[in-house]
Amino acid sequence: MARMKRANLIGGQETAPHSGAYFLDVNPAQPDDVLDEFPRSGVEDVALAVRTAEDGFAVWRRVPAPARGEILGRAGEILRARKEELSRLLAREMGKTLREARGDVQEAIDTAFYAAGEGRRLFGRTTPSELPSKAAFTTRRPIGVCGLITPWNFPIAIPSWKALPALLCGNSVVLKPASDAPACAEAFVRILLEAGVEPKAVNLIHGGGGEVGRALVHHDRVSAISFTGSSAVGREIAETAGRTLKRVSLELGGKNAVLVAPDADPEAALDGVIWGAFGSCGQRCTTTARLLVHESMHDGFVAQVCERAAALVAGDPLDEKTDIGPLVNRAQLEQVQRYVEIARSEGCKIAAGGRARSDLPGFFYQPTVVVGVTHEMRIAREEVFGPVLAVMRYREIEDALEWVNATEYGLSSSIYTRDVNLAFRAIEEIEAGITYVNGPTIGAECHLPFGGVRQTGNGHREGGWGPYEFFSEIKTVYVDYSGRLQRAQIDNR
Ligand code: UN1
Repeated sequence: MARMKRANLIGGQETAPHSGAYFLDVNPAQPDDVLDEFPRSGVEDVALAVRTAEDGFAVWRRVPAPARGEILGRAGEILRARKEELSRLLAREMGKTLREARGDVQEAIDTAFYAAGEGRRLFGRTTPSELPSKAAFTTRRPIGVCGLITPWNFPIAIPSWKALPALLCGNSVVLKPASDAPACAEAFVRILLEAGVEPKAVNLIHGGGGEVGRALVHHDRVSAISFTGSSAVGREIAETAGRTLKRVSLELGGKNAVLVAPDADPEAALDGVIWGAFGSCGQRCTTTARLLVHESMHDGFVAQVCERAAALVAGDPLDEKTDIGPLVNRAQLEQVQRYVEIARSEGCKIAAGGRARSDLPGFFYQPTVVVGVTHEMRIAREEVFGPVLAVMRYREIEDALEWVNATEYGLSSSIYTRDVNLAFRAIEEIEAGITYVNGPTIGAECHLPFGGVRQTGNGHREGGWGPYEFFSEIKTVYVDYSGRLQRAQIDNR
């Protein structure tokens, strides 16, 4: 099939990039399978999108919130009807297995129905006034044009986490998706348009972070930025946005640990570790990157982890028999190779995997288990974003809990234990936005807050009700119906 030049979507119109330049969208499992060409946009394209979004905002904000919710609910229905087709596109475009791709799309469906319901809430508060014949309450208002910068690892779910709450609150959006998953973003935006969102309120600009992302963050008419990606880029965004006092929500890196206590159910823990470490080929911010196992069970348990890791079937993500797909691109593959070398040079042993799959056409790497890791090593602290599990042996639970916290990140965490006292102690002591008990570090549900502490973010949460706070502004209203001047703090004393 002939390769097509795709366009930006500005106000619902296909718009060619000002630069006239394009990049290739490649299937990472089969790099000679090119999906299409996508615009390499720049400052001019962003300027047009933001102007359009300002016009869209003026219209969309006046649509009552329950009606906006109904439109987003319709988007949920369309997503549901096209789940299989979207999942196939997603697996082909970024390489997660079809089973996981379906989960990605399902997360967007769930988020759409949550947003639909929120249209009938968007609660403010009513509270008594300190003065007689006076009412006091708060209402929510949209904040304007929101810039959404999204990653490739959840190419439908994460745009939905950001765009749906932003739109429900009455904002308009300019979405800049990762250039490794532009087709998924386009499919998602087309569904919003088809569902009936004001076209000028939803704009899609393709291109690099250094050009499009940066232009959005610098633009003085953009009121908020919601970003998911690396901590390095997150810091730069927050700095720039600080100068124009933009609101910023950051969802950044992780180095998530599973702690297996001696009393844990070993089968459940094993299943959880394999799914957490190697699902999506380790390319989630919630990936299980570290495993802490008590010395009493360490060798046997780790041997089983290695056996299960080695048995995972790598291959075409579209094949139902595949357990593990490729890394998203060559740079990601090289990053994984670099970190496995770092682990070797730190004196660790590679107990499983440790090699790229040169026998397969795409960017495949073996699921890798690194043993003999200690908490001060780089392999125990830095985010790899690949199928590399660093294993630590512990004797005292105090040490284990301390090592879980020995990273600059704090997204997800997990403990396997049947001891309720230990479980609650871990919940209290682990510095992370999410703690699972007897579950892996992945598997967030869309109606609960998602996010992390320390270098993982800046205090905001996606999922659940958090983004509705982020994407709206509170107005406090006082109505004095006494017919005279009443002075707060003075006349009631
Ligand atoms: C991410 O990796 O950015 O809980 C999000 C999970 C997924 C979301 C991960 N539902 O792992």
